[in-house]
Amino acid sequence: MKIEFQLNGKPICLEAPADRRAVDLLREDLGLTGTKEGCGTGECGACTILVDGRSRLSCLMLASQLEGRKITTIEGLAPEGHLHPVQAAFVRHGAVQCGFCTPGMVLTAVDLLARHPEPRHDDVIEAVSGNLCRCTGYQKIVAAITDTDDAAPISAHRPEPARENEPPIAHAAVCPPQTENQGRPVLQPRTLDALWPMLADHLQARVLAGGTDLLVWLRNRKIDPPALIDLARIDALRGISETADAVRIGAAATHETLLADPVIARHFPVLQQALRTLGSPHIRHVGTIGGNLATASPAGDTLPPLHVLDATVTVQSIQGTRRLPIASFITGPGQTALMPGEIISAVTLPKPAAGTRQHFEKVGLRQAMACAVASLAAVVTFNDAGAIDRARLAWGSVGPTVVRLPEVEAALSGRRLDQETLEAVRPLVSRHLSPISDVRAGADYRRRVAGNLLLRLADDRPTRQATTDPVEQAS
Ligand SMILES: Cc1cc2nc3c(=O)[nH]c(=O)nc-3n(C[C@H](O)[C@H](O)[C@H](O)COP(=O)(O)OP(=O)(O)OC[C@H]3O[C@@H](n4cnc5c(N)ncnc54)[C@H](O)[C@@H]3O)c2cc1C
Ligand code: FES
Ligand code: FES
Repeated sequence: MKIEFQLNGKPICLEAPADRRAVDLLREDLGLTGTKEGCGTGECGACTILVDGRSRLSCLMLASQLEGRKITTIEGLAPEGHLHPVQAAFVRHGAVQCGFCTPGMVLTAVDLLARHPEPRHDDVIEAVSGNLCRCTGYQKIVAAITDTDDAAPISAHRPEPARENEPPIAHAAVCPPQTENQGRPVLQPRTLDALWPMLADHLQARVLAGGTDLLVWLRNRKIDPPALIDLARIDALRGISETADAVRIGAAATHETLLADPVIARHFPVLQQALRTLGSPHIRHVGTIGGNLATASPAGDTLPPLHVLDATVTVQSIQGTRRLPIASFITGPGQTALMPGEIISAVTLPKPAAGTRQHFEKVGLRQAMACAVASLAAVVTFNDAGAIDRARLAWGSVGPTVVRLPEVEAALSGRRLDQETLEAVRPLVSRHLSPISDVRAGADYRRRVAGNLLLRLADDRPTRQATTDPVEQAS
């Protein structure tokens, strides 16, 4: 495939297999070895680059996705030989030892400082939570980022973002001739009208959204589809719209978009609480709600909130549209009601009544980048006397799919939402749950955690992700 993009300020045109990973293209084909590869699966941040000014993992990006973008690697950060202010601050604070994580860490910081020129300590911790450093220690790194010299504004170094529907970059003078090795085709429709026939003509193709699951499966050879259909350039799949009674979320809306959206914040805090615990900022920046639903993992973080919010999933193909309650859409672990040629186009959530209490909590092996050992989402409505009218509860990671326990919901009805009620009802959770044991936790432990999560419902403190790691618990 012929790919044109801007690399470190210069237009470039090259020929590469569409499904070649961006990290391989940068390092091996273009010799830009400042971009490192650590894990190859989105967990270490060593391969971070800037795409249209935002930090992104190049191990979870395909060559086809570079088309029309402005890419900055660490080599392009200080083109005139002077250190970028972030690099200078890293030197000043001794925030580098082996240096393997440093390019990714620096580019993540450049992105953060372009958006928040004076970040708080917590903002910095959050921003680098997907960038692993095994030898310097985070104190010096966080100090360097916080102390970056703002006399030279970061924005001066930030590439202009590409605008939609506009040839974003100057064309390179020379484009190489097309070669035989085109790789796995990656189709890139820009409209729904273009998408439907593509889906119908390529029934074995896999849909690609953020790629945070799919590209890991491709790398691990878990799947080998004949083609990919990339949804990321279809604006109509990304929007969030509101009626008097409901909110419709486009399937390709990213987790980051949902976290920043005021309508979602106002009506569905339980969804935002769950999204805050999902992956790292890099994963939330590209991962989508449609991808989380279609993956249908028992540990999928959006699934318990979507169950208690009574979500309806809109499924579309060239044949037409179907609307399914989420409980019918997810049919088993990793299984959904999607038929070949269909995609999820949207998720619709009815607006809860005013005064509804919403709550999400997840327990993982550590605080960032951890799959849930158990999680609980709750939406509770109250009657005029202040007692529970209806409690909707959904546990994640304790069964093959999200678990609802009608016995527990019924037992809470008519009682006050306080510690005494929850203690009285907790044994029902253990009685009716039959979780599995796996590498993350044993069944008995999961059962206990699931009951304890119920106790936290009466707690008004802001939700944070709990951890089972004794070191983090002690800190
Ligand atoms: C390092 C790391 C940490 C992670 N941490 C978490 C976590 O804490 N919690 C969690 O829940 N998940 C986590 N994930 C998993 C992943 O990020 C999420 O499931 C994400 O929401 C997937 O969305 P995506 O857009 O990247 O999907 P993709 O990877 O693009 O696609 C995933 C699957 O969904 C299908 N698909 C995508 N969009 C559609 C659509 N509109 N219609 C039909 N099918 C579609 C694809 O064909 C594919 O089968 C993590 C992943 C990584 C790499
Ligand atoms: S190499 Fe680890 S996140 Fe890309
Ligand atoms: S400096 Fe060695 S991994 Fe961070």
